[in-house]
Amino acid sequence: MSRFDHKVAVITGAGSGIGEALAKIIARDGGTVVLVGRTESKLENVANAIREEVGEGRAIVHRADVTKSEDIEALTSVLQERYGSVDVLVNNAGGSSNKTNIFEMSEDDWVKSQDVNLKSVFLVSKSIGQLMKNNDDQKDRAIVNVASLSGHKAGAHIPHYSAAKAAVMNFSRALAYELAPYQIRVNSVSPGFARTDLTSAGLTNDRFVKAIEKNTALSRVGTADEIANVIAFAASSEASYMTGSDLLVDGGWLLT
Ligand SMILES: NC(=O)c1ccc[n+]([C@@H]2O[C@H](COP(=O)([O-])OP(=O)(O)OC[C@H]3O[C@@H](n4cnc5c(N)ncnc54)[C@H](OP(=O)(O)O)[C@@H]3O)[C@@H](O)[C@H]2O)c1
Repeated sequence: MSRFDHKVAVITGAGSGIGEALAKIIARDGGTVVLVGRTESKLENVANAIREEVGEGRAIVHRADVTKSEDIEALTSVLQERYGSVDVLVNNAGGSSNKTNIFEMSEDDWVKSQDVNLKSVFLVSKSIGQLMKNNDDQKDRAIVNVASLSGHKAGAHIPHYSAAKAAVMNFSRALAYELAPYQIRVNSVSPGFARTDLTSAGLTNDRFVKAIEKNTALSRVGTADEIANVIAFAASSEASYMTGSDLLVDGGWLLT
């Protein structure tokens, strides 16, 4: 018996990085994964690798922009029709762009960051959470929202991202409280620096890498798998008594 046997897991931002690593872990551990993102070719590559490894039908692709409610409603309809409900939702899509200080930040940059990092978590949790809530014969269901170290300690020149990710943590607590009567657990995971598409450009800068090594107790950048393993734990029944928590996976950055 594996951790995700007979479970359906929806993962947003599954075409690369942490979402890709997580989809592979959940599929290897018995789950069926629904890969969500905007770029179908990336999602298909991940799905094909999973199908090859664990079998056809264990990965499906759904193209959606998580900032758009019409895309999310369409996703929820597909899930309802195909599976009836879902067991695991991971709101992982997000990211940070246009680093700048507050005084030079445009309103558009601010709004875009709130949309992709925070509004998306609200929209997807509301729509798919309702589907999960309606089907209360299932036990041990979980939502995991991906926040960030930047939500704990504001990052330099990313005030929009730091604000959104801190809000993701508190939104997760509010959602945990609302969904507890239905035995749906909600937690967040806050990654520190991990090597993914999001960070690859920055990590070509030696000074930046050295600064991370210096400021991280474990003296290195993390991997997508190291973050995904913790998300998988929070999503699995190994964490059956944990709700409303944030799991910080930062290699000890906040210790230094
Ligand atoms: N890597 C780190 O060091 C780090 C640290 C702290 C937090 N995080 C968080 O971890 C999560 C995953 O990031 P990652 O590092 O794995 O980066 P990544 O490889 O860039 O993955 C992010 C994924 O989200 C998808 N996405 C972005 N906007 C979307 C939208 N509007 N609708 C649907 N999908 C969207 C992207 O695919 P498309 O563009 O094709 O849609 C992409 O595959 C993010 O929430 C990020 O903020 C990462």
